[in-house]
Amino acid sequence: MWKYIWLSHFIMMLYLVNEIAPMVEFTNVKCTSWDKKFDDFEYCHLKSVNRSFKYLSLKVNLFKVPITKVKVNFALLKRYSGYKPFLYNITVDACKLLKHPKANPIFGFFHGLFKEHSNMNHSCPYDHDLVVEKLPTSFMNQKITGALNFPHGDYLFHSDWLAYGINRATVDFFYTLS
Ligand SMILES: *[C@@H]1O[C@H](CO)[C@@H](O)[C@H](O)[C@H]1NC(C)=O
Ligand SMILES: *[C@@H]1O[C@H](CO)[C@@H](O)[C@H](O)[C@H]1NC(C)=O
Ligand SMILES: *[C@@H]1O[C@H](CO)[C@@H](O)[C@H](O)[C@H]1NC(C)=O
Repeated sequence: MWKYIWLSHFIMMLYLVNEIAPMVEFTNVKCTSWDKKFDDFEYCHLKSVNRSFKYLSLKVNLFKVPITKVKVNFALLKRYSGYKPFLYNITVDACKLLKHPKANPIFGFFHGLFKEHSNMNHSCPYDHDLVVEKLPTSFMNQKITGALNFPHGDYLFHSDWLAYGINRATVDFFYTLS
């Protein structure tokens, strides 16, 4: 299955090679709790310190700890008239993959974007609030432009966070490739 995804990714890149995206700009982040007895966001924002330094911070309070089963669905969408699915839509077992991050390259890439700025840097159980603190968007820009040659446009990186099989929270990142 992963072979297939990477092959299709590779073929896609060959087609898109003339449209290399030189610039990533994070435009918004939106966090939603779907079960406020289970979790709630204390904050969730992008902040511009100056033209060159913009960062992402978020904190989610967890009310039913310890949490031992976590799945994440992530999907990439691109805006045409409205956001449409684009390339990825996968669900992974985060507890398993946090033990073996290399087992899934897409999850490994995603986790690599924030793990150094987060206390979500170990596997389950989670018995504390989760934070991503001052993650510089320039760092994500480098990783994304280095790794992905996608066509220009507006994108939404959508993630649903499931505990015990129920969607508890959604985190949406909006960015533009220009
Ligand atoms: C932007 O702010 C950061 C952090 O305060 C600082 O290190 C950097 O020098 C600033 N850059 C400019 C261009 O002012
Ligand atoms: C991802 O796929 C699932 C299952 O096909 C679907 O229900 C869901 O709406 C998709 N997510 C997005 C953001 O398109
Ligand atoms: C995880 O992050 C916390 C808080 O930033 C830090 O104190 C801890 O040393 C980190 N643990 C690992 C295994 O990197």
